[in-house]
Parts: sequence; structure tokens; C-alpha cells
Amino acid sequence: MSSTSTPPSKKDPKEVDPSENVGEQVLDQTLRPTGWSEYVGQENVKENLRVLIAAARERSHAPEHILLYGPPGLGKTTLAHLMARELGANMRATAGPVIERVGDLAAILTNLEPGDVLFIDEIHRLNKSVEEVLYPAMEAGKLDIIIGKGPSARTIELALPSFTLVGATTRIGLISAPLRSRFSGGVFQLDFYSEPEITSILARSAKILGVETEADALSEIAKRSRKTPRTANYLLKRSRDVAQLDRTPLSKSAAEKALAMIGIDDAGLTPSDRRILEALINKFGGGPVGVKTLAAAAAEDDQTIEDVYEPYLMQEGFLERTPRGRIVTARAREHLGKQGAQKKLI
Ligand SMILES: Nc1ncnc2c1ncn2[C@@H]1O[C@H](COP(=O)(O)OP(=O)(O)O)[C@@H](O)[C@H]1O
Ligand SMILES: [Mg+2]
Repeated sequence: MSSTSTPPSKKDPKEVDPSENVGEQVLDQTLRPTGWSEYVGQENVKENLRVLIAAARERSHAPEHILLYGPPGLGKTTLAHLMARELGANMRATAGPVIERVGDLAAILTNLEPGDVLFIDEIHRLNKSVEEVLYPAMEAGKLDIIIGKGPSARTIELALPSFTLVGATTRIGLISAPLRSRFSGGVFQLDFYSEPEITSILARSAKILGVETEADALSEIAKRSRKTPRTANYLLKRSRDVAQLDRTPLSKSAAEKALAMIGIDDAGLTPSDRRILEALINKFGGGPVGVKTLAAAAAEDDQTIEDVYEPYLMQEGFLERTPRGRIVTARAREHLGKQGAQKKLI
């Protein structure tokens, strides 16, 4: 795919980059792939988008709307940027919780230029009335606005410029069926990455950050990165800082030191991951227990458990989800036993 540059876009007050914190946002932007060749992995999604874009081009039409889902940091926002770039279109970014009122959405939609990519992050957090305005906009490119109240109220219909909506969510289960069905271009799941994929993402990042690394340092970071590019990049930066202050190259031992400082263990689990598993074992005999009860016991937010911690813990076989609640696995018990033993040795 070619990579034409994205024209500068007008800023709208409702446009945001909804990464969790400023440091992460800056790192995300610095290291975000700017062309398809730099976007590692997710081959199935890339292939689907390629076809969607090519077919739309032939019909001289904006591609159909798509929904991307998966845990944070796997590359959803990046894909929206790459699509806009490929189309030579503006990317307008906003997020579900930011669009509070119908008027906010109407303002965004009526300010679009033909062919724009409208990215709505955390789209599961749109409120119902806003979501209902989105349906005819997605389906028929029109906006129905009600003017006035009571008997004198009337509806006016506005034709919108053609646009492609790219929705992103960490919680596909919270997307209503009517909204989901309007993503006619497809609903795509982003997967965790393999270790070699993460290592190659890290190699590119190290180059951009100007960090000299020893080969096994990157594979060590990859191994403990929760198979997530954003986490991997963050760990690289922390390891770089440690190596720099120690006046050493970024070796495997520098990476190990940095990871130990932030409490990442040899399976890549964070202190929060371990707190959740420990609460499950120590307070609920390994489960089953409901997520809300578990969250309270582990002093974590239940939404964050579902969005961030649980997907990786399940993928790695530390935790299982059953109809009666969460249960811990033998692997988790064994892993925590080992970590506990290590702690006692120190
Ligand atoms: N496939 C990928 N190849 C290379 N880097 C990636 C890839 N996916 C994500 N990243 C890196 O991870 C960061 C976070 O990705 P992002 O698209 O913001 O994730 P999400 O929107 O799913 O939370 C990006 O800035 C980029 O540096
Ligand atoms: Mg994002």
C-alpha cells in the first residue's frame, strides 16, 4: 500500500487522543507506525482492510464503516491513522465519553469533509441518544435533527458528506446489536502479538529512540511485554533510562533491572495482575467469584480488570472465566508460589 501523507486537519474541541496519560501519549505518537510496512502482525485484519480500501477506491466511494476491538495498546488507533493516510483523507478522532450530547455528534458530523475518516474510540461508551443519531448517519449518510419542542417540533434532515467511521472498543460485549450491524465493512478483532513480532516492533522503536541495544535485551523485554506493543515500548523506554543512568549499553541485565524496579515478573505480570490472582487464591479459595467482588478484594476497578488485566491472564492460562465467576488455574498457583519463594530469598 502507498503511504500518502495526511493533510493537516482542523482541530475540533471534541477531538482528543484518549490514551491514558500524557507520557504514554507522547511515546505512542513518537513510535506510531506511519506506513503499512511498519505495522507488524495482525495480518488478517490488514488484508481485510486492504481489500476494503481497494474496492472502495474502484467505486470512488469512502470505504464502509469498520469496528476494531481488543485490549488497549494492540494497535487500534494506529490502524485508523494508517487507513486515513492510505486514503489521503483527514482523520478526525474523538471518543465515546467525550460526545455527551446529540449536538456534539451533530457538530462533528456536519464538520466532516467528503471522504474523512471519523475515529470514535471507546465507542461502547456512547450514550443511547447519541448512538441513535449515529444509525442513520452510518446507514444513509443523513442526520435527523429535531427542532423545537411539543406540537411545534419538527424534524429536519441533513445530508452528510460521505465518511468512513472507524470505531474502536476494548469491550465488544457492550456494543449494542443495532450499532454492531451498521459496521458493514466488518468487525475485526486484534490479537496479542507473538514474541518475535514484539521483538521486531522493539527493534524499530529502539532505532527511533536512538538506543543501542544488545540483541538479547530486546527479546527479554518482548517476553515480558504482555504481548502488547504499547507495553513493550514503555518497558523499552524504562530500560533505556536505567541503562543510561548506569552508563551501560541496554543489555539483558539492564532490562532485567528496569523490569524488577517496576515489579514486572518473569512472566510479564504486573503487581496488579498478581494482586488479582493472589486475592482470588487467598480470599476466595481460587474461585469461582464474580468480577465485582474480586475487584473490591484486590483494590482494583472492575472495568479495568475486564479491559486490561483479564484478557492477558486468560490468554496465558492464569485465569479462567466460567458462568459462575472467575477461577484461578494451576499455572497461576505454581507461578505465584515461585514468585513468593523468590521474594523470600531476597
Ligand atoms: N502492529 C504494530 N506495529 C508496530 N507498532 C505498533 C503496532 N501496534 C501498536 N503499535 C505501537 O503501540 C502503540 C499503541 O498502539 P495504539 O494504536 O495506540 O493502540 P490501541 O489504540 O489499540 O490502544 C502505538 O503508538 C505504536 O507505537
Ligand atoms: Mg487507542
